[in-house]
Amino acid sequence: MAIQWFPGHMHLTRKAIEERIREIDVVIELLDARLPGSSANPMLAQLTAGKPALKVLNKQDLADPARTQEWLAHFNALSGTRALGLDASMAAPAKALIDACFALAPHRGSSMAKPMRVLICGIPNVGKSTLINTLKGKRAAKTGDEAGVTKIEQRIVLQDAFYLFDTPGVLWPRIIVAKSGYNLAASGAIGKNAFDEEEVALELLDYLRQHYPAQVEARYKLQGVAGQTDEQLLEAIGRKRGALQSGGRINLQKAAEVVIHDFRAAVMGRMTLETPAEFAEWLAHGQKLDAERQVKKDAIELDRAIRFKKVPRPPRVQATDDEISD
Ligand code: G4P
Repeated sequence: MAIQWFPGHMHLTRKAIEERIREIDVVIELLDARLPGSSANPMLAQLTAGKPALKVLNKQDLADPARTQEWLAHFNALSGTRALGLDASMAAPAKALIDACFALAPHRGSSMAKPMRVLICGIPNVGKSTLINTLKGKRAAKTGDEAGVTKIEQRIVLQDAFYLFDTPGVLWPRIIVAKSGYNLAASGAIGKNAFDEEEVALELLDYLRQHYPAQVEARYKLQGVAGQTDEQLLEAIGRKRGALQSGGRINLQKAAEVVIHDFRAAVMGRMTLETPAEFAEWLAHGQKLDAERQVKKDAIELDRAIRFKKVPRPPRVQATDDEISD
């Protein structure tokens, strides 16, 4: 069953972004470098359409370096968009961010009359607080609330005439790509109670045994993982890691927790769960299913409205003689 996830406080964030966006010069979206497509927020793209965008592939220390390069090239090829990789081990990430913002909006930030105003957004657990704390460092100061802006927004001064606005909470629309739900759960972005670990581990193994078989084999001292089913592989991992229950049966829940933990901590190696081409395919499929669902939903709603006489029944269309002869 696909994962659905509806955290609260989205309206506040949406409103905060809507209020602020007109005066923003560059939007920084933090993405998880292990799932750059799935960790993006489509609603954010709508709200910030037309604004220069900086995609920051964070946690690159956990991601497959070759795939990070592939994603950076993909984003850098989009108009009005730049991308860079980052991780918490970088002591001074501000310079890279500042340079990228100037490249995107060269006419801003030269004086206090024309300051550079940057909005930073990202899904939960992507590392936004960690980055902001590093950026605050010594020089940057939290200046508190501004009139007309939602109270919890904070403004950080990165350098003279360069302001970074942080938005509270996150915007999280429906997950329309089933694979994205699993990848977000595997990465730790979705609350523990919102998904089934065994299901997520099986989906994760399905991808890893095809794309990173050598790493999986080395970690769990297994052979031929690419040819196994996901269930066989999860059982084999459980057996190797002593995840047993009474009667010598494999404790699949325990085995699933081991796999998810090992992926999150990158103990199997640095891995990325999607390429730009794969994600584009998943997205197209997800959007098609979503559109079909919407058509059905609209038809049901129209039917209900007609039955309760909220709207008149649409007139029957009479076929003309021409149409009949066609
Ligand atoms: P958020 O504000 O976007 O929600 O994320 P936050 O900074 O709290 O970071 C979430 C977790 O990710 C933290 O781990 C943090 O240490 C880790 N993290 C942030 N940036 C990086 C990075 O570049 N590389 C790696 N490897 N980890 C990073 P945590 O406190 O252990 O939380 P959790 O993982 O137990 O949720």
